[in-house]
Amino acid sequence: MTNILFVGDIVGRPGRDLLKRGLSAISSHHDIDLVIANVENSAAGFGVTPDIARELFEYGVHVMTGGNHTWDKKEIIPYFAKEPRMIRPANFPEGVPGLGRYVARTDNGVSVAVINVMGRVFMNPLDDPFRVVLEQIAAVQGEAALIFVDFHGEATSEKVAMGWHLDGQVAACVGTHTHVQTADERILPKGTAYITDVGMTGAHDSVIGVERAAIIHRFRTGLPQRFETASENPRLNAVVIQADETTGRAVGITRVSLSLQDVETLAVTPVAVR
Ligand code: FE2
Repeated sequence: MTNILFVGDIVGRPGRDLLKRGLSAISSHHDIDLVIANVENSAAGFGVTPDIARELFEYGVHVMTGGNHTWDKKEIIPYFAKEPRMIRPANFPEGVPGLGRYVARTDNGVSVAVINVMGRVFMNPLDDPFRVVLEQIAAVQGEAALIFVDFHGEATSEKVAMGWHLDGQVAACVGTHTHVQTADERILPKGTAYITDVGMTGAHDSVIGVERAAIIHRFRTGLPQRFETASENPRLNAVVIQADETTGRAVGITRVSLSLQDVETLAVTPVAVR
């Protein structure tokens, strides 16, 4: 059995600090073989830099995924050529730096393909994620015992549809981007672990990680505002997926939502597997 920890969108320093303080303990607590994290908001809420990526690798993240904010910091663009463990949505146009997949190998020798695709509903137009994800799966089939998909999207309908589209073809399909953890984690009938959104690793007394006053002001006036990353009530949102590398299917998905205090004491709140 292989245990995969997927950490939901890391937002700014409060998110990174949660990993610094607790990731290795969480990993040993859940007997984790592979850590994947969505890092597209890890640099003050907008993008990721090479220095931050190196920092997160040091804390114990093995593979990093992205989304619409992947390119916000220009210095990340050349980094993709050097660091295949950093991936971006596969359905960006051809010629965009980086790849939408990476095949990792756990310490006990299980190869796990990580694939990143992005939705098109209420988001900038990209190539069809439903077709592109199948191409990515075909590219790793035979090479990977387990396949993990991060579907970065806004609309719950599009993400639910992707879960059903991939049921039986991948070990897990998890949603990212909304920064709000959903309570619909389950194993789909053909063995794919699914959740609509893993949530956010960052300050939760905020509006999806941003200082709330500026956001409320923008909603009330329509005027542009400078957004600052919030710092109050940091929480680590993640899922633990238990997958059987002999079948390529998942047997469990457990939602994780930890306060800073929880992270430090490892008081994980498990949720029953359905
Ligand atoms: Fe996003």
